[in-house]
Amino acid sequence: MLITPLSEDELTSLAKAGYLVRPAFLPADTVQHLRAECLNQYTQGQMRAAGLALSGIQTDIRRDHITWLDEGYASPAQQAYFSAMHALRTQLNEAFYLSMASLEAHFAVYNVGDFYQAHVDAPQGRSQRVISASFYLNEAWSAIDGGALRLHLPSGVHDVLPRGNTLVLFRSDHVLHEVMPAQRQRLSLTGWL
Ligand code: OGA
Ligand code: MN
Repeated sequence: MLITPLSEDELTSLAKAGYLVRPAFLPADTVQHLRAECLNQYTQGQMRAAGLALSGIQTDIRRDHITWLDEGYASPAQQAYFSAMHALRTQLNEAFYLSMASLEAHFAVYNVGDFYQAHVDAPQGRSQRVISASFYLNEAWSAIDGGALRLHLPSGVHDVLPRGNTLVLFRSDHVLHEVMPAQRQRLSLTGWL
C-alpha cells in the first residue's frame, strides 16, 4: 500500500519538536473498516482492560481496553495499515540512520471518563520502542469531546485531537504524554516501531 512519504518538514518536526501530526494517513474507506473492526472486537468482548501489571489491573493509571493486532491474521484493512507502517519505518530508518525492525500495534477503546495518565512509552530504553504512532479511528471530534493526546514538550504542552485518520508520531524514549479523559467513546490504533 502506497502512502505519501513524510516530507522534509515532517521529518524536521519529528527530529526538532519531537513529534509530527499527519492528518490523512490512510484512504478513508480503510479507516472506516479499521473503525468497524475495532468496535466489533470491543462489543464482542474480545478486548481486555489495559494496565495489566503483576500487582493487578492499574485502573488509576489507565482505563482503556485493548487488543493486540496479529500481522499474520490481519484483515485487508489491517494489512493496509501494516504496510503503510512498514513504509514509514523504512523511511525513518533511512532518514535518521535507525535500525527499527519491529512493529507492535493494538486497538484501544476509551469509554466516557477513561484516560491514560502522563507516561513515557520507553523510559530509559527499557523497551525496543523508538517511535510511538497513535492513529485515530473516530468520526468528527471536537475539543469538548475530551480525549486529547496531550504531549508535554520542551516547547510546552501540545494537545492533538483524536480525529479519524490522524497519525501522530513521537519519540518513545522521552516524550511525556497522556490521554485526557474522554467525554465520548474514543477509538484508536496505537503502534510502536
Ligand atoms: C499509549 C498511548 C495515546 C493515544 O497507548 O501508550 O499513549 O493517543 N496512547 O491513544
Ligand atoms: Mn503512551
